[in-house]
Amino acid sequence: MTEHDIELSVNGTTHELTVESRTLLVHALRDELGYTGTNVGCESSTCGACTVHLDGDAVKSCTLLAVQADGAEIGTVEGLAEDGTYAPIQEGFQKEHGLQCGYCTPGMMLAADDLLERNPDPDEGEIREAIEGNLCRCTGYQNIVNAVEFAADEMGEASSPEMTAADGGGDD
Ligand code: FES
Ligand code: FES
Repeated sequence: MTEHDIELSVNGTTHELTVESRTLLVHALRDELGYTGTNVGCESSTCGACTVHLDGDAVKSCTLLAVQADGAEIGTVEGLAEDGTYAPIQEGFQKEHGLQCGYCTPGMMLAADDLLERNPDPDEGEIREAIEGNLCRCTGYQNIVNAVEFAADEMGEASSPEMTAADGGGDD
């Protein structure tokens, strides 16, 4: 059994750990580091339950060895909220009832968040394409699409310049 010392930055916190050559990234995150918000489903790259961000891109963490992520920046669902405030994508899932059992939800949100980083104003087709690698057995997907659209709107409003009275944004 060969072991390797690796370093992972997860949600901005650096961790040093020792893993076997065969350890999958999802197991390193869950079992070694305690980031259990990342779920394990199929372990064969089909369901997307294990989706995390690797250096900013959504990846299925059951398809990567932990040693392949040595030195990488990992983002998990635990890192979405800031200072106790939901991220827009989390707010979207809550407001639009984008989950039922919730098993797919962390991976779904990480996939959607990656889309919104690349494309802040996606249409429905682009949203469905972005989450096509993430399976949900409960929702029928429409509420998930609505949740992503909600998040896109929230992020768009947050990034648009404040209207001034001269723009017609006054009280009257
Ligand atoms: S557990 Fe990774 S894709 Fe299903
Ligand atoms: S909410 Fe149950 S699998 Fe998606």
